[in-house]
Amino acid sequence: MCGIVGYVGPRPVADVLLDGLERLEYRGYDSAGLALGRSGALGVFKTDGRLRDLREMVDASGANVGAGHTRWATHGRPSILNAHPHLDCHGQVAVVHNGIIENYVQLREELTDQGHRFLSETDTEVIPHLVEEYYQGDLPEAVARALQDVQGSLAIVVLHAEHPDMLVVARRDSPLIIGLGQGENYVASDIPALLPYTRDVHVMENGEMAVLTQEGVKLTDWSGREIKMNPYRVNWDPAQAEKEGYEHFMLKEIHEQPRAIEDTLKGKIKGSQVVFDSLDLPVDRFNKIVILGCGTAWHAGLMGRKYIEALAKIPVEVDIASEFRYRDPMVDEGTLTIVISQSGETADTLGAMREAQRRGSRILAITNVVGSTVSREADDVIYTRAGPEIAVASTKAYMTQLVCLLLLALYLAQRRGAVDEGAAAEVLDALRGLPDQVREALKTNGKVEDLAQRLQKEQHVFFIGRGLDYPLAMEAALKLKEVSYIHAQPYPAGEMKHGTLALVVEGLPIVAIATQSALREKMLNNIKEVKARGADVVVIAPEGDDLDEVGEAVHIPRTMDLLMPLLSAVPCQLLAYHTARIKGCDVDKPRNLAKSVTVE
Ligand code: G6P
Repeated sequence: MCGIVGYVGPRPVADVLLDGLERLEYRGYDSAGLALGRSGALGVFKTDGRLRDLREMVDASGANVGAGHTRWATHGRPSILNAHPHLDCHGQVAVVHNGIIENYVQLREELTDQGHRFLSETDTEVIPHLVEEYYQGDLPEAVARALQDVQGSLAIVVLHAEHPDMLVVARRDSPLIIGLGQGENYVASDIPALLPYTRDVHVMENGEMAVLTQEGVKLTDWSGREIKMNPYRVNWDPAQAEKEGYEHFMLKEIHEQPRAIEDTLKGKIKGSQVVFDSLDLPVDRFNKIVILGCGTAWHAGLMGRKYIEALAKIPVEVDIASEFRYRDPMVDEGTLTIVISQSGETADTLGAMREAQRRGSRILAITNVVGSTVSREADDVIYTRAGPEIAVASTKAYMTQLVCLLLLALYLAQRRGAVDEGAAAEVLDALRGLPDQVREALKTNGKVEDLAQRLQKEQHVFFIGRGLDYPLAMEAALKLKEVSYIHAQPYPAGEMKHGTLALVVEGLPIVAIATQSALREKMLNNIKEVKARGADVVVIAPEGDDLDEVGEAVHIPRTMDLLMPLLSAVPCQLLAYHTARIKGCDVDKPRNLAKSVTVE
C-alpha cells in the first residue's frame, strides 16, 4: 500500500516524483524518500515527515532518472532509517518497494554472513543487497537473479549508479503500472500519479519485469523472455484527481456523487431492463450468493444483501474478506461470489476471492479501477464509474457500489422472473431521479456543520437504525471514527434494549437514521427509549416526516425505501467530514490508515 513513482526523461525528475507521490499519499504517509540517478552517484533523500519536508531537502541537479516512495509501515516503525529508498553496502543500488518479503529474515542472515551491512529494520533492504551480490555490470540481469531468491509480494523500482539512464521494475502481487510517454516513461503504483503526464498505461502482470529508458520500455518475464506490452488508454479525466478549489478531497468527492451516480448508471438501463455489457450470468445456476469486501466495501455488501434478497429472492451471505478465507467457507459451483473493492487491490479481498474461486464459485467483481487485480482475476466485472477516489475515507465509491448492487439485484430479479414489471419500473425511476436527489441532500451541509460543531467535543457517539438504515449506520459510524477519531458505535435500534441501553446517559449523542416507512413506528419507539434516558438525539428522516417530538431532524429528499440509504449517506458523510475538519484532523489522510491495503 506504499506509494511508488519512477520517472526517466527530460523533465525535472524530482518535481515529477514529488508531484506523483503527492497524488499517491493516500496509499501511505508515514515517511517518504526518493533516489535520483546521476552519473557515478545516486542522490538519496528521506524524511520521517510528510512530502513537503522532502521537497525542501532535495537537490535535484543533474538527474534524468529517479524513483520515490511514500511509506505505510509494516516492518519497522516510521523513521528515516526505515524510509525508502534502501541501498546496498556502497550506495550504488537503490530500491523502493511495496509489499512484504516473507523470507527476509533468512535472506538477511545469509547476506550478513557474506559481509553485507544492514541499516534498517525493514524487509525491503535485502533486495538492494541481493542485487549488489549478483551485479556484474548488467542491472536487469542482477535484478532478475535477486527476484529468484525473494518470496512474498513486491512492486519494486531499482536504480544503479552506473546506469543513470535506466529504471528496472518488477511486480508480483502488488500493483505497478507503467506510463508510456514520448521520449520519457513512468512507473507508479496507482494511476492518479500518472494522469497529468500520460493516460497510456500498461498494467503489469505478476511475474513481469521491465527496463524503462527514455527511448522505450522493454517488458520481460523474470527469466528475461520478452513479452508484448498490452497498453490501454485510461478514460479518467486528470482534473478528477485535483482538489478543484475544495479544501479537501473528501469534501470534493462527497460533492461529486451526483455525477458519479450518473456515470455509473450510464448505459445500464435500457427501457425497462437492466443491462450490463459483457455480463451473461447463468442466473439459474446459483442457489446462493456470497458478498465479500473490507471496510466500506463490506458495508456496501451488507446493503447489497438486502437489495438482492428483497428483489431477486436469492439467499445472500456477506463476509469480511479477512474472515471468509479462514473459516472453511461453504462455497461451490452453485454459489455466485460478488467481490466488492474500490481499488481492486486489497490483499484480504484478493485472498478471499481466490479462495472462493478455488472452490468452484463464479466471481463477479464490483470495482472502480479498470485493470486492477480484482478486475483481471474475476470472471465478470461491473465497474463503478466514480472516477479516482483520493481521500482515504471512501464516499463516492461507496455510493456507486450501492448503485451497482441495486442494479445487479434488479438484473438478477428480472432474469429470474422474481420481480414484476411495475415494481422494476418503480426502482428504475427512483434510480434515474437519484442524482438530483443527492444534489438536494447536499444542501443539508449547513445544518450538518452546526451539528458537527456540537459533536466535535464528544468522545462517544451512537448511530442507530433498523432495516436498511442499520448497515448505513455502520458506514456512518466508520466514517466518523476514521476521520475524526471519535468513538462511534452503530447499533440496530431494536437491539439497544438487550444490552446497550445500559450505556445511554444524560447528553449522550445519538444519530438516529429513520428512513424506512415500514419500520417508522418501531423506530420511533426505539428513539423514545433512548430519549427517555437522556440521550441527545438527532434524527435523519425523509422530508415531511416531522419528528421534532423525538429530536432535532435533518431532512433529506424522499424516495422509495430501498434507495433512502443512498440519500441519508450524504449528511452522514458530511457530518464525519465537518467534525474532523473542525477538530483539525488531517481529513484526507487519517492517522494509521491507508487507502489501498495491499498487505494482509
Ligand atoms: C482500506 C480503506 C477503506 C476501504 C478498504 C477496502 O481500509 O481505508 O476506506 O474501504 O480499504 O478497500 P477497497 O479498495 O478494497 O474497497
